[in-house]
Amino acid sequence: MSVKSNETKILRKLDLTRLPNHIAIIMDGNGRWATRRGLPRSYGHKAGCENLKKIIINLSDLGIKNASFFAFSTENWKRPQDEIDSIFNSVREYLHEDSHVLIERGIKLTYIGDLKRLPTDLVDAFKRVMEETKDCNKMTLNLAINYSGREEIVRAANKAITNGKQITVEDFDKLLDLPEMPAPDFVIRTSGEQRLSNFMLYQMAYSELFFTKVLWPSFTNKDLQKALINFQHRERRFGGLK
Ligand code: IPE
Ligand code: IPE
Ligand code: MG
Repeated sequence: MSVKSNETKILRKLDLTRLPNHIAIIMDGNGRWATRRGLPRSYGHKAGCENLKKIIINLSDLGIKNASFFAFSTENWKRPQDEIDSIFNSVREYLHEDSHVLIERGIKLTYIGDLKRLPTDLVDAFKRVMEETKDCNKMTLNLAINYSGREEIVRAANKAITNGKQITVEDFDKLLDLPEMPAPDFVIRTSGEQRLSNFMLYQMAYSELFFTKVLWPSFTNKDLQKALINFQHRERRFGGLK
């Protein structure tokens, strides 16, 4: 069977009217993907970024409204500098080369995390593409770089302290990095690890979690569709009864 007809078959099982409103992806396994091929880890990050591009297109084709991708955590600064540079180089290249794709597809770029520690030219590239895509309204693409869920919560708490009054959960929601972004309904983590590694901790209170052994650079549109079908079989109760 051809790849194409196989994909069409999966798509038939997918209910396009019941897609998650916000899908969040923890893109893990780039290093192992490279090591298993006898390549330096930087090749894995390059391949991971190529895959990010493809999956963004797949999500936009499906009509997903919001997508967040975890690309670099605050804990990832513990890695060797050349590996960190290779991750930033891939993101930099993506922002330079693909902003036109975002505009053509009506994809608005947003950022979650702390821009302060990133290289200045990467910050500038982010700001430029966010400005260029600010009126796009088909999909929001949210990139988490130098992101920590705990730090986001502490940032919000500090804003509340500065405001000087006690607050409700609803007030707190508005103090997060991206108050207009709905909480993720579906979270995918690749590479077999079954943890959140500090990603969107507050927002994931009721997210459906999906773990796959597939390493991020090998995660295909078919894998995405299988995951989405799995999501559509979940029963979400939010603490209530069926
Ligand atoms: C995910 O892949 C990318 C980042 C964390 C930046 P890894 O680099 O963590 O790959 P593994 O987990 O070591 O295979
Ligand atoms: C999580 O992956 C962070 C990103 C995917 C950016 P890690 O590889 O950093 O997570 P741990 O160390 O396995 O928990
Ligand atoms: Mg990892």
